[in-house]
Amino acid sequence: MPKLNENYLNLKQSYLFSEIAHRVAAYQEKNPDKPVIRLGIGDVTRPIGKKVIEKLHEGVDALGAAETFKGYGPEQGYEFLRNAVVDYYAENGVSIDAGEVFISDGAKSDTGNITDLFAQDNVILIPDPVYPVYVDTNLMNGRNITYIDANADNNFLPMPDKNVHADIIYICSPNNPTGAAYNKEQLREWVDYALANDAILLYDSAYECFITDETLPRSIYAIEGAKKCAIEFCSLSKTAGFTGTRCGYTIVPKDLKFMSSTGVEMSLNAMWNRRQTTKFNGVSYIVQKGAAEVFSKEGMAECRENIAYYQENARIIASTMEKKGVRYFGGINSPYVWFECPMGMESWEFFDYMLEKIQVVGTPGAGFGENGKYFFRLTAFGTKENTIEAMKRFESLF
Ligand code: MLT
Repeated sequence: MPKLNENYLNLKQSYLFSEIAHRVAAYQEKNPDKPVIRLGIGDVTRPIGKKVIEKLHEGVDALGAAETFKGYGPEQGYEFLRNAVVDYYAENGVSIDAGEVFISDGAKSDTGNITDLFAQDNVILIPDPVYPVYVDTNLMNGRNITYIDANADNNFLPMPDKNVHADIIYICSPNNPTGAAYNKEQLREWVDYALANDAILLYDSAYECFITDETLPRSIYAIEGAKKCAIEFCSLSKTAGFTGTRCGYTIVPKDLKFMSSTGVEMSLNAMWNRRQTTKFNGVSYIVQKGAAEVFSKEGMAECRENIAYYQENARIIASTMEKKGVRYFGGINSPYVWFECPMGMESWEFFDYMLEKIQVVGTPGAGFGENGKYFFRLTAFGTKENTIEAMKRFESLF
């Protein structure tokens, strides 16, 4: 009999968004005539821009001709896309090297897979509430997690405690689920803390394209010293509508070097390269052709139009919260609005209540951690019509 990874016994029975989908499907089966509006999972609804679509088509055509056919691509991604990412960072004043860019099928996979590079006995610091992938992937590997409180008192932006040591720290900014975004000074404190503790920051910047406040950093590398202590994950899912297409990138600086227990210097860039070349065969040429176009002037302009559309939805949700006197966070510099459940309800109770009474689906804060127990998340990624209708129904709820 195989001995199984019993760490799986420590996980909740299903992944948060699978649980939500399951509950909604059960409701719909019983109430087929009730129109449900889904503002739960942060899945985009706008079509991919025309320029990017053209390049995806070009990618398909290239595979149909012997002269341009492509088989296995480089596991790290094609040079044209890695260079496009380098240029994108340069436009934001951050210098990285193409050899530090690893193209992947998304930030979800990479934030999970990165755990391969670390030993069991690290002190892992994860904010609560948080994107569940960070927690679940560490639990799957049997690691202990130390939680750091994100709550209304610290505006859901926890800061390092100099008296507590950590080896690995997860940060997501703009944050999923709370929508809170760190400023430069706050990130500087985290970088200083990581450098002082010989720790590493795992920085998820999947929502950087929603930052409108130009004083806010869009990359951890905007902070001096970060290349010595941070890996950054980013994604085209929300920037370019690639949730189904799948493409993201991870920056692993060459300066990230730590000593092994036997005194051998180990490079995280080399380790990640070794991991990817062994376990991953790259993203399809077609998708990478489209992805590179995202970073062109015209491609990005199209993405910006879609992002502005979602930002307007976020504004509509936030203004409804204001009208109803509901305390909320996010909605600016973020596609998520995180609010306190009305009537003192707990978040799963409020989930069921909304579904039953107004057929609007959101995400219960408890799914992101203990501190989310009385909070709820709505996404701005729906259609404008659905967002307006959902908020109309929300206004009538209490
Ligand atoms: C979310 O709703 O939190 C996101 O869609 C999840 C993800 O990007 O994987």
